[in-house]
Amino acid sequence: MNNSILSQPGNGYQAWLKYGQVSPEISDDQSTLFSNIAVSEQNDIIQTAVTELTQGIEDILGKKIVISEYKEGVPCIALGTFGRSPIIDEIFHSEARSAVGAEGYVIKMDSSKSCLAIGATSSIGILYGVFHLLRLISTGCNMDSIDIVENPVNQLRMINQWDNIDGSVERGYAGKSIFFSDNRITEDLDRIRDYARLLASTGINAISINNVNVHKVESLLITPTYLPEVTKLASIFRLYGIKLFLSVNFASPLEIGGLTTADPLDPGVREWWRVKSAEVYAEIPDFGGFLVKADSENRPGPFTYGRDHADGSNMLAEALKPFGGIVIWRCFVYNCKQDWRDRTMDRARAAYDHFEPLDGRFMDNVILQVKNGPIDFQVREPVSPLLGAMENTNQMIEFQITQEYTGQQRHVCYLVPQWKEVLNFETYIKGEGSSVKRIVDGSLHGNQYSGFAAVSNIGDDANWTGHLLAQVNFYGYGRLAWNPELSSDEIAEEWIRLTFGGNEQLVQTIRTILMDSWGIYESYTAPLGVGFMVNPDHHYGPNVEGYEYSMWGTYHFADSQGIGVDRTKATGTGYAAQYIGANFDMYESLDSCPDELLLFFHHVPYTHKLHSGQTVIQHIYNTHFEGAERAAQLVDAWEHLADSMDKQLHKQVAVRLEEQAEHAKEWRDRINTYFFRKSGIADQGGRTIY
Ligand code: GCU
Repeated sequence: MNNSILSQPGNGYQAWLKYGQVSPEISDDQSTLFSNIAVSEQNDIIQTAVTELTQGIEDILGKKIVISEYKEGVPCIALGTFGRSPIIDEIFHSEARSAVGAEGYVIKMDSSKSCLAIGATSSIGILYGVFHLLRLISTGCNMDSIDIVENPVNQLRMINQWDNIDGSVERGYAGKSIFFSDNRITEDLDRIRDYARLLASTGINAISINNVNVHKVESLLITPTYLPEVTKLASIFRLYGIKLFLSVNFASPLEIGGLTTADPLDPGVREWWRVKSAEVYAEIPDFGGFLVKADSENRPGPFTYGRDHADGSNMLAEALKPFGGIVIWRCFVYNCKQDWRDRTMDRARAAYDHFEPLDGRFMDNVILQVKNGPIDFQVREPVSPLLGAMENTNQMIEFQITQEYTGQQRHVCYLVPQWKEVLNFETYIKGEGSSVKRIVDGSLHGNQYSGFAAVSNIGDDANWTGHLLAQVNFYGYGRLAWNPELSSDEIAEEWIRLTFGGNEQLVQTIRTILMDSWGIYESYTAPLGVGFMVNPDHHYGPNVEGYEYSMWGTYHFADSQGIGVDRTKATGTGYAAQYIGANFDMYESLDSCPDELLLFFHHVPYTHKLHSGQTVIQHIYNTHFEGAERAAQLVDAWEHLADSMDKQLHKQVAVRLEEQAEHAKEWRDRINTYFFRKSGIADQGGRTIY
């Protein structure tokens, strides 16, 4: 734990790991048992696990813990991997052991031995088990008959930092980078370690530390200029079972390698990447691999050389293969120089159109990383039809924890419910039971690699995430990547109890705020799935026509008659036909398209009646008036908690909620006025429209 001012209570730095402040009731017997930790193995990760457990329990009990080998008759918490620890093998018989996978663990109270045991196949399982145990103790769970088996559902549980080497964070809303500043890698390794703790405590096992937009200086991260410092970061993450990845510049051979081309089929280029990969692995033997954004938003890629994305990614995969590395290749590929007049072009189609025809051509150590929706992390989008559409290709899903389009951590927006909708979406790709979560956990297509990635929402703000309540998205992402069956409610409650303690009224109030927050945010921003309507560049705040006549391909086509994008096969861009069977039918038809996505799929008159019975225009007015009101109510709800938590923590959130309430009014007024003026149709409620 960082000893600086950052770790003072009240600033949120300790996040959900501040065991001392959330004191559960503990009996004397338990206290005796918790006071001894028995462990007989020694390695870095086990050491981390012991340190975490010791610190955690000492904070909870307020007394010193004894660490020793197991001694019969002495009540203790025993940690150990199977086959290396006699007491662990005694408690967990072969049946129990066989249920535990590579990163899983078992926790069991054996009363006859007065021993609370954590057993695992590998050291990292022990660390995950320790974090689980601390979570249980500090949320006041009964330990007497505890018997838990846990395995992560997803293999890769990754965080993508969008940090630049100058210290800025692309789409960062919580201060500067904790990794970089002024073209140097940080020397504050304490903070990196604290970040690794937070990540591992939720089950994250991979991190890419630099922005997917890799510019000149960042291209040097894989060279001797920066590699020694990168190696230091990797060794910290290694202590927490987290593999380090780097985003790389596809044009590196050209830009930093002195070659005249970056053509993926050029033998010199292939050799260059092989040598570079070998250099990286010489320093970091467990290096994860490369993350690549190519041919996207002006970044270089294989298209320059008339090659495709299989050619590009396979070249890197071949270079990494001898070392066990992987290439994570992003599918966020679209034409960002569109003409709004050209109705045949549709950005939503792009990822599928580019990648689906390449199915089967990717090497087995390539994973395609697909954004959850076809556009760009809007408050509401359909699920990307590319997910699962490539039976013979590894895929992982990409979420955005950082709230680029969902309030930029100035508004509260609990994103786990949104992610769960995506994960539970039935694609019908192999008939019923082909949900997105089964695609990304690799089980539907039997992939070698698969999993979750998400864009981080942390920075060097003391509380990590700017808005304290945005910590729940960071926490929830990891928990969901570990187990997508956890409910949004469960995750929220767990986080609240760990962060603020167990006062029931407080737990209920914050849970309601979180569970309502996505709906509230959606209601006062862009309506019915149409998206955008934000200010260009920074993407904060309302601007209905902000992107309407620019080249980015994010149009809503509102005119005096109606609004929405016709993406049907019959009369529109044909995007709807990228879905299978019942999903295609559902989106193609105006009658069955869900209200919440109506304007994503159809262009309709303002007088069109929704399933809700409202017209589109009245829906816009109603949701915007209600949304702003509900945002104001959040301020009051929070106010009631003033006496049930630390004053500073309370204040942090109160200030943000007030800003949100004010800003929601601005959204309400700008959107309502725009559509009133366009349509000429008055609000049935006669409310004020400027
Ligand atoms: C969005 C975002 C960019 C980011 C890009 C990406 O367009 O605004 O900042 O680089 O997504 O995912 O690559």
